Amino acid sequence: MKKNWKARAAVSMALAAFAGAAYAGGEAGIAQRVEALLRQMTIEEKAGQLNQLSGKAFSTGPNSEAVRNVERDIRSGKVGSMLNIKGVADTRRVQALALQSRLHIPLLFGLDVIHGYQTVFPVPLGEAASWDLEAIEESARIAAREAAASGIHWTFAPMVDIGRDPRWGRVMEGAGEDTYLGARIAVARVRGFQGAQLGGTASVMATAKHFAGYGAAIAGRDYNAVDMSEHQLYETYLPPFKAALDAGAATFMNAFNTLNGVPATGNAMLQREILKGKWGFKGFVVSDWGSVREMVVHGYANDLTDAAAKAITAGSDMDMESNAYASSLPALVKSGKVDIAVVDDAVRRVLTKKFELGLFEDPYRFSSAAREREALNDPRHRQAARRIAAESMVLLKNEGGALPLRRGLHSIAVIGPLADARRDLEGGWIVQSNAAKMASLVDAVRERAGQGVRVDYAAGCDVACRGNEGFDAALKAASAADVVVLAVGESWDMSGEAKSRAHLGLPGRQGELFEALRAAGKTPVVVIMAGRPLIFENVAEQAKAILYAWHPGSEGGHAIADVLFGDVNPSAKLPMTFPRNMGQIPITYQQYNTGRPVQDEKNVVYKSAYIDSPNTPRYAFGHGLSYTTFAYKDLRVSNPSMGPDGKITLSFTLANSGPVAGAEVVQLYLRDPVASVVRPLKELKGFQRVVLQPGQVRTVSFTVDREMLAFYDRQLQWGAEAGKFEVMVGSASDDIRLRQTIELTEP
Ligand code: GLC
Repeated sequence: MKKNWKARAAVSMALAAFAGAAYAGGEAGIAQRVEALLRQMTIEEKAGQLNQLSGKAFSTGPNSEAVRNVERDIRSGKVGSMLNIKGVADTRRVQALALQSRLHIPLLFGLDVIHGYQTVFPVPLGEAASWDLEAIEESARIAAREAAASGIHWTFAPMVDIGRDPRWGRVMEGAGEDTYLGARIAVARVRGFQGAQLGGTASVMATAKHFAGYGAAIAGRDYNAVDMSEHQLYETYLPPFKAALDAGAATFMNAFNTLNGVPATGNAMLQREILKGKWGFKGFVVSDWGSVREMVVHGYANDLTDAAAKAITAGSDMDMESNAYASSLPALVKSGKVDIAVVDDAVRRVLTKKFELGLFEDPYRFSSAAREREALNDPRHRQAARRIAAESMVLLKNEGGALPLRRGLHSIAVIGPLADARRDLEGGWIVQSNAAKMASLVDAVRERAGQGVRVDYAAGCDVACRGNEGFDAALKAASAADVVVLAVGESWDMSGEAKSRAHLGLPGRQGELFEALRAAGKTPVVVIMAGRPLIFENVAEQAKAILYAWHPGSEGGHAIADVLFGDVNPSAKLPMTFPRNMGQIPITYQQYNTGRPVQDEKNVVYKSAYIDSPNTPRYAFGHGLSYTTFAYKDLRVSNPSMGPDGKITLSFTLANSGPVAGAEVVQLYLRDPVASVVRPLKELKGFQRVVLQPGQVRTVSFTVDREMLAFYDRQLQWGAEAGKFEVMVGSASDDIRLRQTIELTEP
């Protein structure tokens, strides 16, 4: 038997070589081949194609107690995909097992390539702060090239969940609070991962996840219930998924949460009515880890078989790590409880992707040792990671020109628990760490400062910073320095999945370390590394300069030094609002006027306001400073009004009015002051990243059309309403520089 499959596999390999990597005959050809294969399959083999199990490279979810013989299941065609297997050797070995099955259907290998495979880029929330869509696409492109060279067909990214609650640790994986920015970044990431067309061996299938509403977990507690109006779902949380679908996302992943009482995994409104119905999605939906099984725990299914029936019927095509489909679907179909047509539709969707990837022509085409060596050691990838990391860092504060570090320094003290960190710089959700060959911030400062400058280091405490025993040594190191750089924040595993936090201050006594330095007359430049917004009021008030570096990736040490020394002029802008205190959460710039708006913080009587806290955030969405300044002038409109098919061009001049070259992310906001559904005070509707030399002036234009003015009305119909609109252009949501009023004369 063994010899037989080898012979047959050799024949198909020969055909594959002849057919080349191109898949047979395009869409029509693939559809025919899928049908031909489907007709040969038993119900057990069909259920097998919908079964995804995890390898042992790492565990990204709670392992089920069931003892399974995965290799035997693969050989007998009971597994359609594996996750958490990586590298040419292991993917080839496991793929060979699948080719021993009766129909030799190859496996799909999926992996969480979230912000890099070998080369680690900034955590996605940090990368989003660059607002540089080309850079974001490039980052995904590099990740795809490295992963696809190592046998990976499919990444479980981009995570496109809108996140407005920094208590939720997974804000780290997304693009922040804004629907428009989140949708644009979703497109960039899908394009980066998938390239021009699926099937290339430098591309991987993307996954738009977690469908849907996961970022709105009550109280910011991961996996918690989500309860929101359909209006909010349509207006805020769905658009980035639709944008990912329109960009060609090959797969979707559903979410752990219930949405208005129904688990996303069993939610036909989401997966059948919207995704596969209204939106016409042709790819397939994979469940999240064990989410089919968890419908029993949610109290939505009686047992695993009932969960399997509810999930497949609701449009969850592939079952990740519940083993529900493999164990229950055959009996459910035989008993008539699940229509074979539902199973066939799911299997068609999965097989179609395997054909599109060319896996039937050559099951090993993504596992190339030569390509793996080349891709994983390409120096251009690290250069890109360093550039993108520097572009992601937000200069929150810079008084008295504290940054960039001035020339002529004789001594620098780099202090703090993250000053000599390496693994922490990479953040969560990495595939493999480069810590062993990374530069810490201290290393990078020493390298950049040069021989003539003394650079001292003292940690002061570890990241948890429960004790202050090390503060004296830190103060000693700082006392002799011309300038002190304090590196504080989160360790890599303080944000990400299952990392909800009820307190967002700097961990432990890190804030006291800052106070001790300040009390000693050595107020530091502060670098904060984290996967989410943190709360650091004393630092924000007392520090002269604050650089928010996020978890900047494997080149992050160098990138921070590039910004500190002014080799890179920071241009990043916050993709999420930073609260002053926990009480303000959830918080977003998209506030409503209410009937009693706060005009003046001194008068909050009978106002929609806190009486015990300011009502503005510590740092607003879109905030970020530069080492230069930009002047916005002369906002003009091509025409003050337009009809439904009209357009209005807004233009203004942007000048670099400061001493050094820099990039400014100009932001366009709109307000619809009167509508059938109350609209936010401002909504981001456009942005441009403009690079200018000192003194250079550029005319910047935006085109406003009816689509830009549209919103979901009470009947969830998308459309614009006639009336006046306020257009605003600025450097941040709380830094509007120019305003105009335009009019839509008829809807
Ligand atoms: C995890 C995450 C999901 C990830 C999957 C596979 O629990 O929720 O984002 O892609 O399991 O690792």
